[in-house]
Amino acid sequence: MDRRSFVKQSCTMCLAVGAGLVAASALSSCATLPVYKTTIGNNKVSVPVSLFAQSDFLVIQPKDMLYNIGLRKEKDGSYAALLLRCTHADNQLVATGNGFRCNLHGSSFDKQGQVTQGPAERSLKKYPTEIIADQIIIHLS
Ligand code: FES
Repeated sequence: MDRRSFVKQSCTMCLAVGAGLVAASALSSCATLPVYKTTIGNNKVSVPVSLFAQSDFLVIQPKDMLYNIGLRKEKDGSYAALLLRCTHADNQLVATGNGFRCNLHGSSFDKQGQVTQGPAERSLKKYPTEIIADQIIIHLS
């Protein structure tokens, strides 16, 4: 095999392996974190409390909203809602289990939305929540 063929074959294999890793990564993050798709009404999002019977964290995907919301049940029974938009350059964040990661430039945030690694410098936006009957209400204003 000449040098040119070797380089060409090696690059093809690297691309195939890389594509496989990216696909596996996306599938595992989707498979492990529960996602709740819903709509916005009156500038609020409602999430059934019962969805937290199996998990203390949900990714909320409101229709017509550019970014997801991370909704976490705290130890005191309250709920914390964070906008999963990177404060560096507005990229969608990915939940990691220990917090959130931005795949664009590498910023990381902890579960409370505080920056743990830059280049982002500001905390994530928090939304107030309340429980009414069997619903968690996230106020988007
Ligand atoms: S957009 Fe998230 S680190 Fe730059």
